[in-house]
Amino acid sequence: MDRRSFITGACATIIGAACLDPSESFAGKNDAKLKEFEKAVITGADGKPLKAADLKEGESFIFNYPYASSPAFLINTGSEVGANGDWKGGVGEKKSIVAFVAICTHALSYPSKNLSSIAYRHKAEGKYAKKDHMITCCSHGSVFDVDAGGKRIDGPAPAGLTAILLEHDPATDTLTASATYGIPKLHKKFLKRNKKKLRKIYGRKEYKQKVAGKTAPMKKMEEISENIAKC
Ligand code: FES
Repeated sequence: MDRRSFITGACATIIGAACLDPSESFAGKNDAKLKEFEKAVITGADGKPLKAADLKEGESFIFNYPYASSPAFLINTGSEVGANGDWKGGVGEKKSIVAFVAICTHALSYPSKNLSSIAYRHKAEGKYAKKDHMITCCSHGSVFDVDAGGKRIDGPAPAGLTAILLEHDPATDTLTASATYGIPKLHKKFLKRNKKKLRKIYGRKEYKQKVAGKTAPMKKMEEISENIAKC
């Protein structure tokens, strides 16, 4: 089966998939830009500020930043992740803790209740994650390399994932999100396209509020989505 047939088949069989019409793909200017937001301490699943040491190698979580409804991956790859442009790379003792916006730059797939097409693959697996530490989007087969700052390495996505700048405080071992580095207007488009759904989940006005001070408690992907796609 060629790549095009596989992708069409995958979208047809994934129930509730965010397999949007590729003609809706993001078509803005794709140069990455730094955008500062209000700082927010990342809160662990217990509602207290997360300690970086508690994030084990290979673990990934979802938290919301920079908007109350916009999902982001928090990942500990276990090995140093270098800088990419204005993004300073991994933080923490091993410089292995990174965060990326969990919205595909192709047709904006994101982790939702019915399905998450986009997920972190700590180990090489399946058709697309040909090495460790990849984020793949099964909607149409885009592949992003976490070790290279979220760079797109395959598939129809027009740009890499948007990275989130993290600061690590060695005194308290806490993590603070402060900015994004990636494709401009990604969040604007995400909030507009998903307005109805996000309003129902987060509230009529709350869904587009910027996160400040601290994030809502982070969650495991399994708590966000009933079905994590494999591809
Ligand atoms: S939405 Fe098409 S590859 Fe992610």
